[in-house]
Amino acid sequence: MSPANREKITVIGTGNYAISISKLFLHHGHEVIFGSRNPNLNYLKQNLSEFNERNFNVFSIEDAWMQSESIIFLAILADEAIYENFAEKICQLLSRSNKQTSKIIVEISNWTDKNQQISNAERLQNLFKDKLDEKSILSKINVIKAFNLINAYSLSNPFESPTKANLANLEFRVPVAGDSEQAKQKLIDLCAQVGILAYNYGDLQDSLQLEKTNSTTFSEWKIPSLISFGFLAFNFIWVFLIYFYFPKKPQSFSEYLADFSLLSHTNKVLGFTTLNLLAFVYFAYVIASIFQLKYGTKYQKFPSWLDNWLKSRKQLGLLAFLIGTFHAIASLFVTNPQYLKDWHYKLSNGVGRMTLNGELNILTGITAYLLMIIVALTSINSIGNSLNWSEWRFVQSKMGISCLTMGLVHDALMYFRIYNEKDENNYSLVYLVTRVKLIAIYFPLMVLISRFILAYCTPISRRLELIRNGSVTCNQKEN
Ligand code: HEM
Repeated sequence: MSPANREKITVIGTGNYAISISKLFLHHGHEVIFGSRNPNLNYLKQNLSEFNERNFNVFSIEDAWMQSESIIFLAILADEAIYENFAEKICQLLSRSNKQTSKIIVEISNWTDKNQQISNAERLQNLFKDKLDEKSILSKINVIKAFNLINAYSLSNPFESPTKANLANLEFRVPVAGDSEQAKQKLIDLCAQVGILAYNYGDLQDSLQLEKTNSTTFSEWKIPSLISFGFLAFNFIWVFLIYFYFPKKPQSFSEYLADFSLLSHTNKVLGFTTLNLLAFVYFAYVIASIFQLKYGTKYQKFPSWLDNWLKSRKQLGLLAFLIGTFHAIASLFVTNPQYLKDWHYKLSNGVGRMTLNGELNILTGITAYLLMIIVALTSINSIGNSLNWSEWRFVQSKMGISCLTMGLVHDALMYFRIYNEKDENNYSLVYLVTRVKLIAIYFPLMVLISRFILAYCTPISRRLELIRNGSVTCNQKEN
C-alpha cells in the first residue's frame, strides 16, 4: 500500500471484535492504534502475532483519541454506564482543546434491550449532544453505525489463514447508517480499500433497524416452519384415521394397531407432505398472477398475506426439501417385500424382485428428489448469486415445476397399481377413493394445471406479459 493511502485506524477496546477488525486493516497495510482502559501491549502482540509489531500499538482511551486521525471504531460493550464514561472522557478532551479535527465514531454494537426505543448509536450521539453545548464542537463528532451485522469470527477468520481462496471469498456487505453523508462516504471508501462492500443504509435513526436485525433469530423461518410442521402433524393424524376408517377389509382398532407400522406410516405422511408443500410453494405464483390480472397492473401492492406467502417461498421450499430428504432416507428402509409386498412379484416359493411399477416408483422418486436438491441448492444465496437471472429462473421455475411433476408421477404410479389390482383384490369404490395416494394428487395437479394455463393459454399469458412489462391494461384505466 502506498504511504498516501495508509491510514491510522483507531480501535477503542481490545476484545474479540476489536482484535478482529484490527486484523482486517493490518492485513491491508494500515496502522492500528488501540485505546484501552488497561493498555497491555503484550496481550495484543500475542493476539496479533502474524502482523508486524511496528504497525500497532495501545494507549489509554484519551491518548488513542488524541492520536487518532479520522476513523475510530468503538468496540466496547454497549452498556449505558460504559458509553456514558466514554462520552464523558471524549467531551472533556474536546472542551479542553478546540483544535481537534472532525472524527468519525463507528459504532458496531447490536440491540440488546428489548424495551429500547432508540439504537445504541443514537444513544451515544445523544450523550455527546447532552454533554457538549457548543455546536461547533459537536459537529466534530459523527457517530455512524456499521459492521454490526458481521461477527468477530467471520471478520478475522480469512486473515488467520490468508489463502487466495479465503480472501477471494470475502463477501461482506456492510450497511452504513449515519447523519453525515461525508462521514459515511469516508467509511465506505475505506471499506472499499480493504475489499468490503459498504453502502449507505440511511440516517442514524435507521440504525435501530440494523441493530434489531441481529437480535432476531431465524425470524423469517418461524411462520414457514409452523406451517410445514403443523401440516406434517395434521397429516400424520388424518392419514392414521383414514387408514383405520377405510381399510382393505373390516378390522377392529386393536387389529389395526397390531398391524400398524410406525415407519411405513411416517414415510407415507412424509411423501404426502413433501409433495403438497412443494405444490403450496408454487401455488403462490398462481394466486399472485390472478391478483395481477384482476388489478391490470403490476404496480398495485398485493394484500399482506399474499406478500408474506410470496416472501416465504424459499423457506417453505427448503422445508419441503428437508421433509423430502427424511422421506427419501426412510424409503430406503421400507422398500423391501416385508413392508411393500405389492411392489414385488409373487412367486410360488415366496416373493421375487420388484415389479416394473415398483421400479418406476423408485426411479421417479429419485428423479424428483435430485431435482429438488438442485432447486434447494440454488435458493442458498451464495450459490444462487453465482447464476445469472435467467439461469436462476430456469432452476427455480422450470426445474422446480419438473420436480413437482415428477413427484406427482411418482405418486400417481403407486395409485395406478392399486387401481389396476382392484378387480383381483375386490377393492370397494370407497376404498379406492379414500387412498391417500389419490388424495395426494389433487392439489399438486390443480397447481400444475393452473401454471400450465397461465403460461400457455395465449389470452391470459399475453395479458400477464403486458402487465409484467409495466403496461397498464384496460381495467386499470377504467379504475
Ligand atoms: C429418493 C427418493 C424417493 C424414494 C426412494 C421414494 C420412495 C417412496 C416409497 C417407497 C413410497 C411408498 C410408501 C408406501 O406406500 O408405504 C413413496 C411414497 C410417496 N412418495 Fe416418495 N420417494 C422418493 C422421493 C419422493 C419425493 C421427492 C416426493 C415428492 C415430491 C415423493 C412423494 C411421495 C408421495 C406423495 C408418496 C405417497 C404417500 C402415500 O403412500 O400415501 N417421494 N415414496
